[in-house]
Amino acid sequence: MSEIPVYPPSPDFVSKAHVQGLEGYRALYARAKEHPEEFWGELAERELFWFEKWSHVFEWNPPYAKWFVGGKTNVSYNCLDRHLTTARKNKAAIIWEGEAGEQRTLTYQELHRLVCRFASVLEHRGLKAGDRAIIYMGMVPEVAVAMLACARLGITHSVVFGGFSAEALRTRVQDLEAQVVITCDGAWRRGKEVRLKAAVDEALGADCPSVRDVIVLQRTGSDVPMQAGRDWWWHALDQDARENTPAVPLDGEHPLYVLYTSGTTGKPKGIQHSTGGYLLQVLMTMKWVFDLKEEDTYWCAADVGWVTGHSYIVYGPLAAGATTVIYEGAPDFPQPDRLWRTIDKYQVNILYTSPTAIRAFIKHGDQWPAKHSMASLRLLGSVGEPINPSAWEWYHRVIGKGRCPIVDTWWQTETGAIMIAPMPGAVPLKPGSGTFPMPGVLPEIVDYEGNPVGPNREGFLIIRRPWPSMLRTCWRDDQRYEDNYWSRMPGAYFTGDAARMDEDGYFWILGRVDDVMNVSGHRLSTMELESALVRHPAVAEAAVVGRPHEVTGQAVVAFVTLKKGDWNREELVEELRQWVAKEIGSFAKPEQIRLTDGLPKTRSGKIMRRLLREIVTSHTVVGDVTTLEDINVITSLAAQHDDE
Ligand code: PRX
Repeated sequence: MSEIPVYPPSPDFVSKAHVQGLEGYRALYARAKEHPEEFWGELAERELFWFEKWSHVFEWNPPYAKWFVGGKTNVSYNCLDRHLTTARKNKAAIIWEGEAGEQRTLTYQELHRLVCRFASVLEHRGLKAGDRAIIYMGMVPEVAVAMLACARLGITHSVVFGGFSAEALRTRVQDLEAQVVITCDGAWRRGKEVRLKAAVDEALGADCPSVRDVIVLQRTGSDVPMQAGRDWWWHALDQDARENTPAVPLDGEHPLYVLYTSGTTGKPKGIQHSTGGYLLQVLMTMKWVFDLKEEDTYWCAADVGWVTGHSYIVYGPLAAGATTVIYEGAPDFPQPDRLWRTIDKYQVNILYTSPTAIRAFIKHGDQWPAKHSMASLRLLGSVGEPINPSAWEWYHRVIGKGRCPIVDTWWQTETGAIMIAPMPGAVPLKPGSGTFPMPGVLPEIVDYEGNPVGPNREGFLIIRRPWPSMLRTCWRDDQRYEDNYWSRMPGAYFTGDAARMDEDGYFWILGRVDDVMNVSGHRLSTMELESALVRHPAVAEAAVVGRPHEVTGQAVVAFVTLKKGDWNREELVEELRQWVAKEIGSFAKPEQIRLTDGLPKTRSGKIMRRLLREIVTSHTVVGDVTTLEDINVITSLAAQHDDE
């Protein structure tokens, strides 16, 4: 392992960092490990506002955890109100840039005003704590306003990424039994309008009886039909809004949001997050990992529809009183230097993005970042997928000019906050490694039986102890929560990732061990894709696997057998790709659809995806095929590849 370069933090960076030197990190980590109740209790008291203090820090009835039991707090209050009595009152909370270049800056006071107004709109519509809202909007400041207004009243929100189709939206509305859908007429993406309200109409067209109201923000100005008695313009309702809507004191365990994510079955899981524990850990990791300073301008260039956007565009930065940049459009529009231009324009100090974005920028060429100084940057972050060392080195050299530490952050929708990542003033970096766990996080790498595997051996990544921002359950499905996360390794949380620890204790995340794929940092389930494909009238069976892809990390390849019929095979391939876009969203479209006469199966009829994976990866089959029912299927599939 000696050829791996190590980048220690610069003395200048260390001297100003929140946590200084490895000793600083180790002391913090040891304290959290040995005295978790004191550790988290002190932080909760110091870092958050509580209407009523908790009676005890932590309750663990495996696999159900409660944090800050009996405490009353409010996320919206912590993100807004408490800053208004400080110098942050007129500080920029959100700097927003539209895709066409429009700009808006909302101070904490102004954001508070908008949130209070919108909360009163929701109240006037009869919504209250315990109700649910679906938020299906583009990246406009109002998406944060809607989230914070829900949080203010205790309405559990579920943000649905604007790239999801009407069909995907419908299943989420139904599962959540949402009373209200908050949307926009449309959103801008690469100069084109994404018609969000039209998708809402299609989604609600059938079987969504829970939805009483649809609130529509005018963004693109396009013509949208409004259904009388159900649909309301945001600006019309705003006329009667009031500005002093109080934040409701909520139980620390109150479900702040549900975020649907792909699992190993066809149906997305509603990951349910809490209020107090969630906010505390998100806020602490904001400081520990991003080494946030009062004067920083911070930009997480993710979409708010994913967990990264929840924790590190909205809740984390605002709880910390930071200035968070929200950008509406595509990162390479109208030209591949949009990100770099924007960094100079707003003098961004911290940039947080994904390896897929970085690899796409590498392909565009160094001439694009070279046009911009980016001298304001002092820290870079990466999230969502393993970052290959060459992309890491490019990010470090070309964007960070060798000056900015890179924090490679490993976490999941389920974990709520960053779990494994360097503290940049403390931990020497190794490109491609997330380095060490955050305080209070006890990860381990184990074999099938749950025994630790030892240095440099691959194994399953598990987490031994519950942490404050951990998911509480799957929405109305405790069984799924227990089965998915807590039954594989008794007493421990099963992440679904494989990892290795090197001789220095550094964690290296290797990727998923289940049927979840990671395409451009988006989580996709093979089962969900397969279920979508077999709903098409021509399809008999489908098996989906991921193949390595130089930009997106993985790409979706679908093997499909057809029902009897006179199909135009070429047209059908394109039709099936569009079908997946309609059923899930365009981001899920398979890169390749391969029509085949049969799929490799075990004698018990299970599709052997492992073999298909080998075909798309190495074009040959070297694995064990003794359980395979019909070896001819495999040989003909491998031959088919050679023909292409
Ligand atoms: O496989 C891991 C990968 O993304 C999965 C979680 O996806 P999601 O819930 O959509 O959340 C993404 C944003 C937090 C993980 O199980 N993953 C995430 N971050 C990293 C990563 N893999 C390697 N390195 C990372 N830094």
